[in-house]
Amino acid sequence: MNHFHAVDGTLFCEGVALETLADRHGTPLYVYSRAAIEEAFSAYQTALAGHDHLICYAVKANSNLAVLGLLAELGAGFDIVSIGELERVLAAGGDPGKVVFSGVCKNRADMLRALQAGIHCFNVESEAELETLAAVARENDLIAPVSLRVNPDVDARTHPYIATGLKDNKFGIAIDAALPLYNRAADLPGIRPIGLDCHIGSQILAIEPFAEALDHLVRLVDQLQDQGISLQHIDVGGGLGVSYQGETVPAVADYVAALTEPLAGHNLTLILEPGRSIVANGGVLLTRVEYLKPGRHKNFALVDAAMNDLLRPALYGAWQDIVAVAPSQAEATTWDIVGPVCETGDFLGHARELALTSGDILAVMGAGAYGFTMASNYNSRPRPAEILVDLDCSHVVRERESLQQLWAGEATLPGKPR
Ligand code: LLP
Repeated sequence: MNHFHAVDGTLFCEGVALETLADRHGTPLYVYSRAAIEEAFSAYQTALAGHDHLICYAVKANSNLAVLGLLAELGAGFDIVSIGELERVLAAGGDPGKVVFSGVCKNRADMLRALQAGIHCFNVESEAELETLAAVARENDLIAPVSLRVNPDVDARTHPYIATGLKDNKFGIAIDAALPLYNRAADLPGIRPIGLDCHIGSQILAIEPFAEALDHLVRLVDQLQDQGISLQHIDVGGGLGVSYQGETVPAVADYVAALTEPLAGHNLTLILEPGRSIVANGGVLLTRVEYLKPGRHKNFALVDAAMNDLLRPALYGAWQDIVAVAPSQAEATTWDIVGPVCETGDFLGHARELALTSGDILAVMGAGAYGFTMASNYNSRPRPAEILVDLDCSHVVRERESLQQLWAGEATLPGKPR
């Protein structure tokens, strides 16, 4: 079900009109639907019901405490890539025993904190990281549960910046180097190898690359078994992509079937780390049209959200739908939707057919994933507020940053007047 729906040209999130939220809380404003997020998570749970599994939601997609809290309540585990993400999960009531720690460059302090919190598994990406983790665990009389992230050299057919499973990418351990490293891990005091993982990329719209990667992983698990190393889980990384521009997305049930069938006969828990597919379509970014600047060559609609609020269009050339939240009397024409930041790359959309008047509120759709989490203070712009809608109620789940917060922690030189 679409939880962002229009009634007579007025766009609602569940039972709340988006224009009302923009008027009440100002813009730019992120708005999330509780029902949409829960539904997306439940689709994975339902599809995986017949198989031993753990869904570790990728916190980097949307790390708001309210989002993490509601997923924790539904039984989610979490995929983290920093101590900041771990502390968020704990603050939101998440279970550290269901946390997997990914990332190419964990430092000793990260490792110690995660060991002390009792996370489920470290997804280790290099021999040097494995040795460091072993040392940190030994020094503290702890045992680190470990999975090696292998790089299966599979083409995920996605944007090059978010393809991670090719041998050219910085991620993971070359698959042919994994066997000796597992043997090393099994011998290392302080380390307990329990799993095997990969993550080949994001916004993947075909099942085949996942299946191909899994095939490599299953073969490795069998080889390890032959050498007396038996693992408890296999982790296939991030989830499916989403439809931003009418792309066809495989059904979660088909994707899950493609991942569980090759595991038949293996006594392995399947771990998935979906992020985007849980939250992307559960969120929008609201922005107000400040000025219209029609021209002979181009028409620009200057809006109050910018690349610092939503980076995906500027960084990846990503296309996200932009719609008016209320009916307009204006004539539709073609607009470039651009923000106030001083860069030509600061756009939300090019050549969009919209009927606009200054003061109108627009919604950038599919903004629940990699939206707020990639926001910055560039151009000294406070980051937006975030709202979570639950039926007819809306909750401020993060206040708009204040101007003072922009320079909190900074100082002028001693003795210089302020
Ligand atoms: N696991 C690992 C180890 C990851 O690196 C990622 C995403 C995920 C899971 C979640 O993948 P998903 O289910 O969301 O596809 N900022 C980019 C996306 C970067 C993804 C990075 N890793 C974007 O806005 O498109």
